[in-house]
Amino acid sequence: MKKHHSFYAILIVLMVACAAMMAVAAPSVTERIDNLLLQMTLEEKVGQLNMIAPLDAESREASRADVRNGKVSSYIWFETDAKKRNDYQRDAVEGSRLGIPLLFANDIIHGASVTFPIAPWLAGAFEPELFEKAARVAAEDTAAEGVNMMFSPMCDIARDQRWGRVAESCGEDPFLASLCVAAQVRGIQGTGNWERGTGNGVAACLKHFVGYSAVTGGRDYNESEISRWSLENLHLPPFRAGVDAGALCVMSSFNTYDGVPAAVNRFLLTDILRGELGFSGFVVSDWRGVRETIDWGVSGNAADAARAGLNAGGDMDMTGGCYAEALAEEVKAGRVPMSALDTAVRRVLKAKFRLGLFDNPYVDENAMSRLRAAKDAEWCALAKECAEKSIVLLKNDGILPLRPGYGKIALIGPFGDNENEMRGCWVGHGWDHGVVTLADSLREIYGERLTVVKGCEVLETAATRTLQDGTVVVDEHAGNGERGTGNGERGIDEAVAAAKAADVVIMAIGEHAGWTGENQSRADLSLTGRQQELFDRVSAVAKRKIISVVFSGRALSINKVWDDSSAALSAGQPGTMAGAALADLLTGKAEPTARLAMSIPWGVADCPCFYNAPTTGRPYWGKFRDREENRQGARFPFGFGLGYSTVEYGWPWVYDGKACVNVKNTGKRQTTETVQLYVRQNVCRDGARPVRELRGFKKISLAPGEEKVVDFKLVDDLFAHRNRRGEIVVNNGKYTIFIAHDSKSGNPLVVSR
Ligand code: BGC
Repeated sequence: MKKHHSFYAILIVLMVACAAMMAVAAPSVTERIDNLLLQMTLEEKVGQLNMIAPLDAESREASRADVRNGKVSSYIWFETDAKKRNDYQRDAVEGSRLGIPLLFANDIIHGASVTFPIAPWLAGAFEPELFEKAARVAAEDTAAEGVNMMFSPMCDIARDQRWGRVAESCGEDPFLASLCVAAQVRGIQGTGNWERGTGNGVAACLKHFVGYSAVTGGRDYNESEISRWSLENLHLPPFRAGVDAGALCVMSSFNTYDGVPAAVNRFLLTDILRGELGFSGFVVSDWRGVRETIDWGVSGNAADAARAGLNAGGDMDMTGGCYAEALAEEVKAGRVPMSALDTAVRRVLKAKFRLGLFDNPYVDENAMSRLRAAKDAEWCALAKECAEKSIVLLKNDGILPLRPGYGKIALIGPFGDNENEMRGCWVGHGWDHGVVTLADSLREIYGERLTVVKGCEVLETAATRTLQDGTVVVDEHAGNGERGTGNGERGIDEAVAAAKAADVVIMAIGEHAGWTGENQSRADLSLTGRQQELFDRVSAVAKRKIISVVFSGRALSINKVWDDSSAALSAGQPGTMAGAALADLLTGKAEPTARLAMSIPWGVADCPCFYNAPTTGRPYWGKFRDREENRQGARFPFGFGLGYSTVEYGWPWVYDGKACVNVKNTGKRQTTETVQLYVRQNVCRDGARPVRELRGFKKISLAPGEEKVVDFKLVDDLFAHRNRRGEIVVNNGKYTIFIAHDSKSGNPLVVSR
């Protein structure tokens, strides 16, 4: 017994000694940061706040000297060459005085090598787990390239379809968008222990903080006029969700809030983001966001801008170079306290530690090709599932699913066999990855019976792109093959002839992907180029046999297409597996289950167009005089989407603390229904509340003739809103609940709380 005691005593002593030695050998992250800060010069501190993006090879090479001198913290890294990336990292880790590693960041928005559907369509799957899976794939792929941060997810609530960047958003609803944002953060960052630097090495960056989507008139880079009321209840929720999910970075936006550009807005970056949302990571400005405050006329010079940015709570200056140019002087002159600089540096260093960059600064240079070879099939299968679940069936008079018996099928339009347009905006590194087009997939099914005719170009004139430095270049990825010429009359005539000869016509039409995304606002929500003419001429000879598949980055207002097609699908920008997913949907191998996450307006005048507006004091007035009463607002509302069966909703009731409804499949096919729960507060003394707000949903499967009771617990979350101090408020009183197919339908149920 005694022997045992002494054995245990020795063991304990040894363990304590080991722990003590480990503690000595492995200082905490905070201690390591403290230690670094003690050694850093003022210039090196400022260097840690400098993110650069030299765009050409020459300036990139030149920037390496700055890295070695500790003047660069981070690159926006558009390259894929891991060896080059490691060389740059070596400059920092082995060539600079303190060896602080670089952080490489890039815009990986909807996929890296494999492209997934853009967010407003994927949101319409009402299956946030898909976002998590797709973001996981993109992050793994990106990490293998050596990129440590994705400028994703986009958290802006998109209501104005003219704004090009709706293509990057998770749609118009804050509840759904919040779930999709949180899922993306989980997917990007994985579930490692960030405090110990055992995350998966990729950070998420929530953008753009905040109010960017409210830019006046949908014109990009404009001012935003939003109230604290809409800030709290509309714009902040997805950011809250992303912060709660642990995102390491937040990007400030270009717009103003209360007159002050976000990059220098202390109220937003400190009071709201840190005070109210509890964010503890680092804030990066958007591209030249700090310097552009000079163009806004809010800063007089770089020193003004740098001082305002840092004092506001902006930690890193993206590409504008104001901090690099002027911050050290501002600190020396006492206009920026050293403690504020230290705080910002600390946050950046902490992120680098959390990403594991100090301990593992390099990437395996063969990892990317190995990973892609091993995972490509799996990633493509997921991309197909995502596309299938995100393409919305808007109309069907029974022509779909396509009957096997059709003799001749004409696929007409410039999107039918166009890889670039399927990839969409913000392609990441997907340019080299092949895309399955609709022509590819239909040819496999119908062989010789399929005729493919382009008809016209996506654009009739050469597409140009404006680079970040203002240079205008021809867009190599525009997909308008015969630039500037189109096929003219000949192409359209050919399409008309093919349509006449066919039993069924599939029109693959839409808007040019290069006109979606950043800096791509549109005054017109129409088909681009001569496509409307193409559609009109084809529909004149092919009545009642047209199926339109519309590709776009925003909700298009193309009433003639919706009216004159026998069936219509809104496909968004479906990505790598576009054609495979569409073919399965068209032939009925897969069921269309997606819903609209962005309302489709009747016309441009209806923009911004969204379902969750307040009633106003005169709900039946204020309409456009020159439009019919029933042609105002959304032509297809948020939440809408058909399947190949029909579904009926009964009247809702309350039972056992739950709101219930009976949902029945009244058609002949198995179907998946997304049952949506909307709530309206009948009287809210704090301010006008939306006529309805999505507060829950359930996706259910129903066999033909089957009915199910779907219920939602009447919990406080359903009835809550935020007041102007950001506090959650749940008022007692009456609420109207709709459990419905979409944001406009359903029977009301009044409940008291
Ligand atoms: C965009 C951001 C993007 C950044 C870096 C900016 O112009 O607004 O969304 O992440 O550039 O490329």
